[in-house]
Amino acid sequence: MYAAEETKKLQENSRQLLTALSAKGIGPDQVDALRKVLRFHEHRYYVMDDPLLADYEYDQLYKALEKLEAEDPALVTPDSPTQRVAKGLTKDFPTVQHLVGMLSLENSYNADDLLDWDRKVREASGLSEIEYCAEPKFDGASISLIYENDILSRAATRGDGVAGDEITTNIRQIGSVPLSARFSEYGLQQVEIRGEVLMSKKSFKKYNDELAAQGLPPLANPRNAASGSLRIKDPAEVKRRNLEAFLYHISFYTADGLNEATSRKGEKALSTHSGSLEMLWDLGFRSPVKEKKVFKNIQQVIDYTLSFEAGRDDLPYEIDGMVIKVNSMELQDKLGQTSHHPRWAIAYKFKARQATSKLRSVEFQVGRTGSVTPVAKIDPVPIGGVTVSSISLFNEDVIREKDLMIGDTVLVERAGDVIPYIVKSLAELRTGKESDIVFPRNCPVCGHTLVKPAEEAVWRCVNPVCPAQVVERIIHFVSKDAMDIRSFGEANVRKLYELGLLQSIPGIYRLDFDKIGTLGGFGKKSIENLQAAIEKSKQQPLHRVIFGLGIRYVGETTAKILANAISYLPDAAALSQEDLLNLEDIGPKVAGSIYEFFHNADNITLLQELEATGVQLRSAKSPVAAGGSLEGKTFLFTGTLVQLKRTEAEEMVEANGGKLLSGVSSKLNYLVVGEDAGSKLEKAKKINTVHIITEQEFMEMIGK
Ligand code: IVH
Repeated sequence: MYAAEETKKLQENSRQLLTALSAKGIGPDQVDALRKVLRFHEHRYYVMDDPLLADYEYDQLYKALEKLEAEDPALVTPDSPTQRVAKGLTKDFPTVQHLVGMLSLENSYNADDLLDWDRKVREASGLSEIEYCAEPKFDGASISLIYENDILSRAATRGDGVAGDEITTNIRQIGSVPLSARFSEYGLQQVEIRGEVLMSKKSFKKYNDELAAQGLPPLANPRNAASGSLRIKDPAEVKRRNLEAFLYHISFYTADGLNEATSRKGEKALSTHSGSLEMLWDLGFRSPVKEKKVFKNIQQVIDYTLSFEAGRDDLPYEIDGMVIKVNSMELQDKLGQTSHHPRWAIAYKFKARQATSKLRSVEFQVGRTGSVTPVAKIDPVPIGGVTVSSISLFNEDVIREKDLMIGDTVLVERAGDVIPYIVKSLAELRTGKESDIVFPRNCPVCGHTLVKPAEEAVWRCVNPVCPAQVVERIIHFVSKDAMDIRSFGEANVRKLYELGLLQSIPGIYRLDFDKIGTLGGFGKKSIENLQAAIEKSKQQPLHRVIFGLGIRYVGETTAKILANAISYLPDAAALSQEDLLNLEDIGPKVAGSIYEFFHNADNITLLQELEATGVQLRSAKSPVAAGGSLEGKTFLFTGTLVQLKRTEAEEMVEANGGKLLSGVSSKLNYLVVGEDAGSKLEKAKKINTVHIITEQEFMEMIGK
């Protein structure tokens, strides 16, 4: 799309615009230049996945364009980068006809199926060998885009294949879909393109983590996440979900043959399938040009397909197979189609990551915060190389929505690195012997009545001394990111708890090691290690103690913020909700939870007991923290550090008054690079203001 020369020029232009912005600002005569560089950076970021500007710099340019357009609305064009943003909500999605029916594909499952298909293609075409193009089969939601006179004019879902929902506004939120594309350079006037909208594995995980933090059940898989996202009526929410679009097929076009050169260019591109993918890439679309491969015969296709399947889990997005297409368009036309699928293409489906099994029982597990989670126990079944026997059902609503009964045959899916989940029950296979799943109204561990706050989907045991919660709280307290008492481990905590040797968090520091020595399973050495690790943990920094207490909604970041605000933990009780709200990044829900925690009599006793055992509740914050040698400087570590542990190094930054950032941006002052540093280093190299230093140089900076 952008040749090296042009890339250089646009990058220079971006720098000039940024400089001009910080000096005297820029005027309406720069609107076109701004749009050009913004489109270029959108392409680098969304299509190439290789940004050349820091997010912050992009934002500055974007805001400048927004400002100029707001000052003079006549300057706005429909394909301006600002026009992706829609204000307000979509009312409904009108039904629209596709220009050409959206067919589906014939499926194949093994090499023999492909050999059969190849034989049919050869027979029908009268050729002895066929040129094929193989590419991934993207596992998302299919879409159709129409461009007219180089402008995106309409986007639709597949629907029934003949007509779908018009979702143009939502599609405009997807950064990798260009709002305009120079089809005219290929002599094309109206073009209908097919493709697939996906959510990357990373975005999917991030999205589900957010849902979990709000106590909501996660979305089942990236495919459902993508198709659900396309029907959301709030375009801003669609944007937040970070969707991506792969475009892989031109289903219809009109050529106006502008002049001989453009017609020739278009004809050439459209004479093969691989050529049309290259054209799409050239026009700024994310077409599978890098993934596609052209082969002279079916055997080569089979080899490529199998090797792609082996590497499936390493891709950043889900694919469920490969699509093999006859490469010559002329031959495609000759082969034609059945009422369901084209004869010139076939899908090769990878091994299913679904299986059926019997739902035998549902157990109810009580978590650290008292939440009661139903867990389905199924007959063990292998899916994608892992045996699955236990599946979280998240909450009562999920059981109702999926209409699950004990004894049901259930369809289970495990997609990539996503945790397994039940897709549905196969109600048609019921025998009448199935029984309802009864959600308990009392805690399965302590018997206390469960409560369900109106705004939540989760039932909770609110008994603070519920044994299940106590154990989970101890496990959390000793965990790696909290007090980091490594030699403890979950199994040991449970065992000591069951034996009555450990009953509370302060109990960790009063363990009777002589008695533990008389139990089987604990060697002399392991007891010594445990004892030493427990002793050492007493000096952990305050934020780790706070995080370890497991206060609801208080993660590591909030724990650090709170630790910075006080110098002695029991002082937290003196903070009003308003004081807490004044702290960075703390909202009403978190403030309320912290306030409640420190005003609860049991928790006050807990802190007193902890202090009595020798756990440090005073902030180890050395007075240098403010006014320290790194004051006002920002740091980020990448790669493997050799001399320091990552957490140690980070704590040193903070102890010396520096600040840690989570990503590379122009706000970053120092990137400390360890061994095998990757993309962060590459990104930092492109930002002039980031100092890239070694671990050794960092140690010198802090005088070590
Ligand atoms: S070609 C007329 N190529 O798979 C042929 N389809 O199971 C148009 N799909 O409906 C389809 N990746 O939604 C094609 N590289 C790819 C694809 C692909 C995913 C989807 C598409 C199709 C479905 C058939």
